[in-house]
Amino acid sequence: MNYHELLVNDIPISKLESVAISAVLRASDIVKEGFYSTLAIEQKSGPHDVVTQFDQAAEHAIIETISNHFPDHAFLGEETGLRGVPAQTITWIIDPIDGTWNFARQIPSFGCSLAAMYDNTIYVGVVMDPIANELFVAKKGYGATMNGRKLGVSERSELSRCGISLRIELLKSIPANLGILRRSGSTVLDMCYVAKGALEGFIDRNINVWDFAASMLIVQEAGGTVTTLDHTPPALDHTKKQSIIATNGQIHKELLQWISTEKN
Ligand code: IPD
Ligand code: CA
Ligand code: CA
Repeated sequence: MNYHELLVNDIPISKLESVAISAVLRASDIVKEGFYSTLAIEQKSGPHDVVTQFDQAAEHAIIETISNHFPDHAFLGEETGLRGVPAQTITWIIDPIDGTWNFARQIPSFGCSLAAMYDNTIYVGVVMDPIANELFVAKKGYGATMNGRKLGVSERSELSRCGISLRIELLKSIPANLGILRRSGSTVLDMCYVAKGALEGFIDRNINVWDFAASMLIVQEAGGTVTTLDHTPPALDHTKKQSIIATNGQIHKELLQWISTEKN
């Protein structure tokens, strides 16, 4: 252990990071194997909201891996809900497959996401794209990496030269100089693409804390900006859905001017 290392509830942050990575890699292996096998697909809130046996298996694998190291920690998982008492300990926020609709349609664009939260702050964020083999990791105050290489957001500031992930219906009108629109169908991947400078901006509405907890830290540690559409810091609150914008910082204000707040 490095003696100047940040401690989170008395645990070295690098220990949280290594356990988080091992949990996500285990989930990623399950999801990757599942992608090439027969799926049991169930509808949740609507036709676009689906779940498979691999969402559940991956979430269980993450919880088991973390519990083996930290039996007293709390969990907030998309598939299994809240376990433990978040106010008293570290809470692990899990989205076992983000982009399940893609996964169920055999579109290889989805990610496994895990964040460690303590005292209303995200300290570690890990996202894995099982198909592209891209592992994104961030530690608060220590930067973000992809497959071990340091990440930095793009410096582009002219909207016409930017790549943006958003839903068309969020725009008040379509600006002539918007640049390229690209949506992967996975919030966690699109936000990681902002972190690695592949996109300059991402916006989505009505998303849950597990959709952005890990990738928010990855964007911030890569030098980007993440807020709600009201310019406030996103709340780490599992009881509410929020509209989130993540950018390289340069285009944050300009992009927000084009967004309608009516549908938030
Ligand atoms: C979904 C994805 C998608 C977003 C949806 C989310 P899921 O997560 O992040 O990009 O637009 O709002 O529900 O259901 O695949 O984990
Ligand atoms: Ca999700
Ligand atoms: Ca999910």
